[in-house]
Amino acid sequence: MSKRKLLRALEEQEELEALQEREEEVEDPIRSSLDSFFADALISEIIHEVKSGKEATVYCCRAHPSQDVPYIAAKVYRSRNNRGFKNDSMYQEGRFIGDQRIKRALKNKSDVGREAQFSMWIAHEFAMLTMLYKAGATIPRPIAHNGNAILMEYLGEPQQPAPALQHVQLTPDEVYPTFARLMDNIELWLAHNVVHGDLSAYNILYWEGKVTIIDFPQAVDPRVNSHAFTLLARDIDNVCKYIGRYGLRRDSGELANRLWHRFKNSQL
Ligand SMILES: Nc1ncnc2c1ncn2[C@@H]1O[C@H](COP(=O)(O)OP(=O)(O)O)[C@@H](O)[C@H]1O
Ligand SMILES: [Mg+2]
Repeated sequence: MSKRKLLRALEEQEELEALQEREEEVEDPIRSSLDSFFADALISEIIHEVKSGKEATVYCCRAHPSQDVPYIAAKVYRSRNNRGFKNDSMYQEGRFIGDQRIKRALKNKSDVGREAQFSMWIAHEFAMLTMLYKAGATIPRPIAHNGNAILMEYLGEPQQPAPALQHVQLTPDEVYPTFARLMDNIELWLAHNVVHGDLSAYNILYWEGKVTIIDFPQAVDPRVNSHAFTLLARDIDNVCKYIGRYGLRRDSGELANRLWHRFKNSQL
């Protein structure tokens, strides 16, 4: 076979495979969770799965050419039946639910209630990201959400997603600035009435010398949630434990108390 013919045959084969892939995607539940984002010209391809976490699976997607970034992260929450939501009254306390029917359904733990809770977590995470990003927090830029998933800025390269801080070895001169940046964020969130509630070195990504905090669905409002201080103290303690690895010692209890005191006295 001539070289040209061979190339053409290869091209045809590639086209066929791409077509088959597209057909398979139609059946794919992940693809249908992201359908509205394809329709809205936000993403044009699901490149691969980045990681399956406790409640969601994150995918690296190719951004639609109309977007000003090459890649976008899609966080697809697990379907109703097989996820382990940080459920719970502890995080839900004080959240405003205007619709009385949803309120009743949530109380009765009915299917409707669980479904409503599912989309509430997603909407809540998106609202937190939007508000905190505007306020200047170091978190991924939120892009869009639907009933199943959130689109946000992708951190890393397609084949090399940003690692969690847990798996990174900071150089000595990075330790204090990283600690300071994390504490500044915690303070900024609190000033905007948000406590993360699940902050740990697993929910902090590290890319090109910078930390970015992720995973906000469980975030609570300290004005109305009676567990907020406990959660804040735990978040700060996790940060202090992490930097303790490098020999930087901070009294997390004292840091939490001081911050809480300033919050309570409107000094943030
Ligand atoms: N914006 C992002 N860019 C790159 N990777 C991400 C992004 N968001 C999440 N990830 C990856 O996906 C994992 C799960 O996301 P996360 O929001 O923490 O959900 P979960 O509640 O399942 O832990 C993270 O640990 C991280 O490895
Ligand atoms: Mg996580």
